[in-house]
Amino acid sequence: MSDRKGIILAGGSGTRLFPLTLVMSKQLMPVYDKPMIYYPLWALMLANVREILVISTPHDLPHFRNLLGDGSQWGLSFDYAEQPFPGGLAQAFHIGDDFLDNSPAVLVLGDNLFYGQEFALTMATAAERHHLATIFGYHVSNPEAYGVVELDETGKAVSLQEKPTQPKSSFAVPGIYFFPADVCRRAKTLQPSKRGELEITDLNRLYLESGELFVELLGRGTAWLDAGTMDSLLDAGNFVHIIEKRQGQKIGCPEELALNKGWISPRELKMSIEKLGNSSYGQYLESLLP
Ligand code: DAU
Repeated sequence: MSDRKGIILAGGSGTRLFPLTLVMSKQLMPVYDKPMIYYPLWALMLANVREILVISTPHDLPHFRNLLGDGSQWGLSFDYAEQPFPGGLAQAFHIGDDFLDNSPAVLVLGDNLFYGQEFALTMATAAERHHLATIFGYHVSNPEAYGVVELDETGKAVSLQEKPTQPKSSFAVPGIYFFPADVCRRAKTLQPSKRGELEITDLNRLYLESGELFVELLGRGTAWLDAGTMDSLLDAGNFVHIIEKRQGQKIGCPEELALNKGWISPRELKMSIEKLGNSSYGQYLESLLP
């Protein structure tokens, strides 16, 4: 079992999704049949991470706490911390310093959704790579909207750029990042970028420059969706709907994964089912009971 701890940067109300997010953070909104934050949480669980810090705005944090509780219903343990202003993704390691307490870490963005045959193995393997940082590369049609990693002909990373106007490759860096135990110390050496944020790409570049960055390409068989705009939110919901309807199995269901991993017992699952009432989600969980 990994001693790696996780951070979900859950964000707050975002202007790109106004007026939807005037009332609550998009990560609390549904992607088809469950809250968006369940999907990045599921990715952390696939990495065998069980101690998780949820970071959000002072306004939205209580809602995440209401939704997720202490995590024991999934065999997890949640802590909560406020990010008073959006100072950048790498600020998570200033806020999370005490929580991480020199453990290796994995940071996931609350609006990223991953799915694929190999993905569980990819997460579990990255979690065990303790002395290197691991980030991923994913071929996209619009790399200029993301962090971009350039690789040489041997597959070695040679450069990282944040939302470049002229990307050096088509490989975007998805919002899940594995770091060694020194990540908070390194994050504290960062200076804010021109847009005033502590950039995750600058943190990754520190590991690239010291020869401690491992970049794994996620292949065509993996889906990576970022539900950060109206269109991508709808696309993500449609994607989950289509796969779940066809297979009769759920994507991003923490109860199911916790049961399969032996982190909760069937009796504990029954307690969750009782709280969910006669919903289709509750009926699905019922079908998982032995
Ligand atoms: O989705 C992957 C991309 O995420 C990476 O390829 C980029 O390198 C990385 O910078 C980031 O780009 P975005 O444009 O998607 O970042 P955005 O500012 O939209 O923030 C992503 C999520 O994190 C969003 O749900 C809000 C939340 N967030 C963001 C910032 C800057 C916070 O919770 N706190 C923050 O300070």
